Amino acid sequence: MMNFWKELRKPLFVQAPMEDVTDTVFRQMLLKTGRPDVFFTEFTNVDGMFSAGRELVMQRLQFGKEETPIVAQIWGSKPENFYNAAKYIKEQGFDGVDLNMGCPQKDVIKKGLCAALIENRDLAAKIIKATQDGADGLPVSVKTRIGIKEISTEDWIGFLLGFDLAALIIHGRTVKEMSAVPAHWDEIGKAVELRARSFKDTVLIGNGDVMSREDGIEKIKTHGVDGVMIGRGILENPWVFNVEEKVRAKEERVATYAEHVRLHSETWGATKHFDRLKKYMKMYIRGFAGSSELRAQIVECSDTETLLSLLEKGTVL
Ligand SMILES: Cc1cc2nc3c(=O)[nH]c(=O)nc-3n(C[C@H](O)[C@H](O)[C@H](O)COP(=O)(O)O)c2cc1C
Repeated sequence: MMNFWKELRKPLFVQAPMEDVTDTVFRQMLLKTGRPDVFFTEFTNVDGMFSAGRELVMQRLQFGKEETPIVAQIWGSKPENFYNAAKYIKEQGFDGVDLNMGCPQKDVIKKGLCAALIENRDLAAKIIKATQDGADGLPVSVKTRIGIKEISTEDWIGFLLGFDLAALIIHGRTVKEMSAVPAHWDEIGKAVELRARSFKDTVLIGNGDVMSREDGIEKIKTHGVDGVMIGRGILENPWVFNVEEKVRAKEERVATYAEHVRLHSETWGATKHFDRLKKYMKMYIRGFAGSSELRAQIVECSDTETLLSLLEKGTVL
């Protein structure tokens, strides 16, 4: 089985998984605006994948064949469900599976899951092993933070490096810090040193506050990571992965949002509420004269047709 993390030419620019944002439509739009080297799904609950309400959960794992290489990100509580989820993910044709050990949401932390696994090494180890067994050669990665209350890079990343993971994606903040302070890139650099000392060849991706390709290249050079992962930088600029860094004019921005709207409606029909589309509006409708007025009009729309006709008018204004 090919380990795409190793095969891809470095440095890597990776799309961050974002709950309720990075669905197949979002990823297909990135194919048009600027393609990342690696795509991620939203995080998907393995316990939900094998429950009565599985249909809704499975929407998160829908993907098109051009969105590749693509990694399915999972989280949950029961190692046996991770095993089955990894098996399913492999059968579906994903290129990799990633374990979420970084989500800081209060409800998941209370249950001892995601980032709480940083202090539950026993369960973390069981989850990694069950996933590696189920994945049966498909590359397994972990996306995590650098601690819960205190920074514990050495201890936690050192622990993770013991598992022969294909990749480690390190968001340089503790759980307590949420997104409120600048990411500690010096700690991400420390993880690179730890890897060197451990003689492992796990691919290391740094994450936190990368807002442009240029910024990413600078961080890769300074801290020695194999690549960077970008999340909010895409929400500010959907062209962020494009090597051609230029200011996008109003016409292109409005037309690209209209394309997103059309693709969303063709893909999801009534299964996703129309208002979800408004979430993506600010990615495209910004940075030109009249953009805030156009956004105010978009907010008033209540169906796809009205929205598209408004955008068509918007492009010829
Ligand atoms: C709206 C939103 C949803 C997110 N959902 C997920 C998720 O499902 N899984 C995950 O590992 N991280 C998730 N994150 C965290 C991002 O992947 C990333 O680690 C974080 O935003 C820091 O990177 P950035 O500064 O490039 O945004 C989410 C972040 C945002 C803003």
